Amino acid sequence: MTDAVMIKELSTEEMSLEIRQLARERQALLLVHNYQIPEIQDLADFLGDSLDLARRSAEATHPVILFCGVRFMAETAKILAPEKMVLLPRSDAGCPMADMADVEGLRRLKAQHPDAKVVAYVNTNADIKAEVDVCCTSANAVKVVQGIDADEIIFVPDCNLASWVQRFTRKKIIPWAGFCPVHRRFKVEEIKAVRERYPDALIMVHPECDPEVIDLIDEVASTNGMVRLAKKSDRKRFIVGTEEGLIYRLKKENPSKEFYSLGAPKVCENMKKIRLEHVLEALQRNQYQIEVEPEIAFRAKKALDEMLKYV
Ligand code: 13P
Ligand code: SF4
Repeated sequence: MTDAVMIKELSTEEMSLEIRQLARERQALLLVHNYQIPEIQDLADFLGDSLDLARRSAEATHPVILFCGVRFMAETAKILAPEKMVLLPRSDAGCPMADMADVEGLRRLKAQHPDAKVVAYVNTNADIKAEVDVCCTSANAVKVVQGIDADEIIFVPDCNLASWVQRFTRKKIIPWAGFCPVHRRFKVEEIKAVRERYPDALIMVHPECDPEVIDLIDEVASTNGMVRLAKKSDRKRFIVGTEEGLIYRLKKENPSKEFYSLGAPKVCENMKKIRLEHVLEALQRNQYQIEVEPEIAFRAKKALDEMLKYV
């Protein structure tokens, strides 16, 4: 029987067991982003946000990292752990925001602002990371910008994260015009409706949301930041303004609390491409191996190492 035929005949439980066993045999570390489907979240050695997973990659002792997330995250793992085999189970799991930044355009912007330093959100491709002074995630963007030795900062590619950071600093932030198409779908009307329906609820959103949305809510946080907020808060109800995958984790870890999506659930189709069968195939066939051109990886690693200095 071929692997493909065999996989088709397995139930979810059998497939999960098979993955666990093969991952043990291969000494593969399963890193899973908070937006992945529930069955994959349940298999994680570490489930987390981009910053947490980048740290886990840098510290990993396993020879293989199996990354369930999108390409820029797996690429970040490969750059931080170049000697490891890094597998992304779907080669087409990309991030449209990461693809909104291009090297030529960034070089032009740098030439227009010769005194500025450049901060790249990790949601960028490796060639952009190679052009910048330091990377950041939504969890440490404010600290990175405050810590960098410059009064002018080019911030690429998310204009919403740039505008969130601008609220905390006098430095001049020069934003790139990128955005997340998923977080852009959260609307002011949705907040008004939810405030009426659940006046006691805490509304938390991701900083990739539009500034008009951020103006009206209670907390702004990365996905792990929301997990921490939900755990420590005395509130019983939470409204979640980020990709719907996080709600599974929030409910699982806080069974006595209630979590609702802000408006209709917003889905990142790239984050949802990986299914259990792809994870199993990835381990059976070593696919899809992430490679980054050494010269690009060398420069990008400097910006990522710099980021990891910030909590
Ligand atoms: P976090 O780093 O907060 O998990 O966000 C990643 C992401 O892609 C948000 O859209
Ligand atoms: Fe990219 Fe947005 Fe999907 Fe995050 S949610 S991976 S930023 S498209």
